[in-house]
Amino acid sequence: MIVTTAQLFKSAYGKYAIGAYNINNAEQTMGLFKGCMDSKAPFIIQLSKGARAYTDKRMIEAMIRAADEIFPDAIFAVHLDHGDEQTCYECIDSGFFSSVMIDASHDPFEKNVEITKRVVERAHAKGISVEAELGMLGGVEEDIVVEEGHACLTDPEEAAEFVKQTGCDSLACAIGTSHGAFKFKGRQSLHFDVLEKIKNKMPSFPLVMHGSSSVPQDEVARINAAGGKIQDSMGVDPNEYLPAAKLGVTKVNIDTDGRLVWTRVHREFFHDKPGEFDFRPPGKVFIQEYAKFIASRNDFLGSSGHLDDVRKAIKG
Ligand code: G3H
Ligand code: 13P
Ligand code: ZN
Repeated sequence: MIVTTAQLFKSAYGKYAIGAYNINNAEQTMGLFKGCMDSKAPFIIQLSKGARAYTDKRMIEAMIRAADEIFPDAIFAVHLDHGDEQTCYECIDSGFFSSVMIDASHDPFEKNVEITKRVVERAHAKGISVEAELGMLGGVEEDIVVEEGHACLTDPEEAAEFVKQTGCDSLACAIGTSHGAFKFKGRQSLHFDVLEKIKNKMPSFPLVMHGSSSVPQDEVARINAAGGKIQDSMGVDPNEYLPAAKLGVTKVNIDTDGRLVWTRVHREFFHDKPGEFDFRPPGKVFIQEYAKFIASRNDFLGSSGHLDDVRKAIKG
């Protein structure tokens, strides 16, 4: 059942975080739903601009609708990840999305406010909530490349002012993470001090953590043993998800880790069976492995086991 992101946030805030997983294809869709059903967790599906264009936006939407029928007990929201203004309007008008993210974090504060405010007005008129971003994360976000060293932490005062001026429903803040497999060189901890200050300024306001993949080192080692060359990778310690959730992080974005599972399964399969060319056997292995991975992340996030209470809260 597709629900609003606001409903999921209301149940989770301050207790646990909802996993927001990026998907692009049928195998990821099946694995994600299976993993969330196995762990009895509510979840958010995120679609990036790239994911919507990969096959066709109608294809990915149809896959999600089909999964909703295949797994009738699933409770989830559908969210646009890192949207520009036009894509936000398209998704708001589509009637399919629960929430959108307007990412104008690369613009100066005033312009970010101006753009975000316009999107909030259009979204709220249709009952859709808006995630905005303040402070730049490192790494690659869609077509925007933030040079290393230029990623800066969110200023708590500015965050409170931004939320007040824009009326956005949740805020992606920079607390030390970055997108991709190569996060914070040497340092492997979230800036809980910044998070605490933001929470003090905005108690009960849902915060979003981007760049949350844990980049499991055993996964990277297996990829490299099967012919890959991923070096200097570093992720977020998943044991920090729950402490962050208690400080208001209600949505935790994970994409890179899923790509690593895909790469490990396929590299190992074709490395071990060089004469093989049927893609279905590794595809089936991937679905199972991705489901296992998702269930394990939901355990770290604390969302596992919350499906029934969320269902009850939604039904009133
Ligand atoms: O933050 C970006 C997400 O990981 C989506 O990546 O734009 O390559 O689909 P993508
Ligand atoms: P990762 O690259 O750490 O998986 O982050 C994904 C993300 O923030 C999507 O918006
Ligand atoms: Zn992101």
